[in-house]
Amino acid sequence: MNSKDVLILGIESSCDETAASVVRNGREILSDIIASQADFHGQYGGVVPELASRMHVDAIYPCIDSALKEANVTLDDIDAVAVTYGPGLVGALLVGLSAAKGLCASTGKPLVGVNHLLGHICANYLCFPELEPEFLCLCVSGGNTQIIRVKSYTDLQILGRTRDDAAGEAIDKIARVIGLGYPGGPKMDKAGQDGDIHAYVFPSTHMGDTLDFSFSGIKTGALNLINQTRQKGEDIRIDDFAASYQHHIAKILCEHTLKAAEQTGIKEICLAGGVSANSFLRKQMDDIASSHGLKLYYPKLRLCTDNAAMIASAGYFEYINGRRDELSLNAAPSLKLGR
Ligand code: KG4
Repeated sequence: MNSKDVLILGIESSCDETAASVVRNGREILSDIIASQADFHGQYGGVVPELASRMHVDAIYPCIDSALKEANVTLDDIDAVAVTYGPGLVGALLVGLSAAKGLCASTGKPLVGVNHLLGHICANYLCFPELEPEFLCLCVSGGNTQIIRVKSYTDLQILGRTRDDAAGEAIDKIARVIGLGYPGGPKMDKAGQDGDIHAYVFPSTHMGDTLDFSFSGIKTGALNLINQTRQKGEDIRIDDFAASYQHHIAKILCEHTLKAAEQTGIKEICLAGGVSANSFLRKQMDDIASSHGLKLYYPKLRLCTDNAAMIASAGYFEYINGRRDELSLNAAPSLKLGR
């Protein structure tokens, strides 16, 4: 270990993954531990917040211990503890935040609060050593859909955002209605692999000249289509429906991202967040990038969904930018990103 190396312990507990990770210099993962509750919540059709908090309590210290052990370091070697403090479920956030504060109080190490969405963007730095701002990022997760101009590692300008539902929510909800269960996104992705992307038609929402999104009308259109088909005594062809619906959502995401690239003249695009794992989105973005001379990046699958390595990476860039938080830092369930 070089004496100039900066080691960050990252902690994440904003939804249904308890995670801890050690990252060197914001770019190199030394350990990446994730305890997922997804199978457990699956039986209820979605995350049950109170149960999520309790499961985080059980998992948080074993995850931190494993992350330190796997990285072959002790707390003494760590420069700062970075933790997600929002957005997310308040009870879930508080578990990771309390653990991080406890470690900082007992060791004197600095505490760095991290916005979970910045973490998603930083997953790209962990996969692409050459990637540096400035670039555009399409950040699509269960709770957010945004086009972000990443001006520097910590200076972010929001160019477009959803006015209602997030893309992930629109996919998860319809996945549940057509009987695919939870977590809907990956199941919908798999179900649509051999489907016809033109079999079903969904409404589009036009947001004028802005780069904003709206997915609630599309979700309602899909619900109406399902109900009308069932009322006629016909079955929904799951593979075709899943393929058409995801293709439609991906097309809107891609069109807006391309428009942002044309407006700003920025030619490097990153995808981030859970929905960036979606194969329909990746394929369409690949096609658009090659036909418009754009350079496209997306994190490897494990780093698209919630993990603590991305939090440690974001924590590193915040830390070297001078951010230090008081031990009074509170959870911020509706924390916004950028300006
Ligand atoms: O980023 P993430 O793990 O958590 C949030 O911060 O929200 O994203 C979770 C979202 C869920 O909506 C999940 O269904 C979606 O990402 N997701 C996918 C895929 N994998 C995860 N959506 C579509 N296709 C996938 N392959």
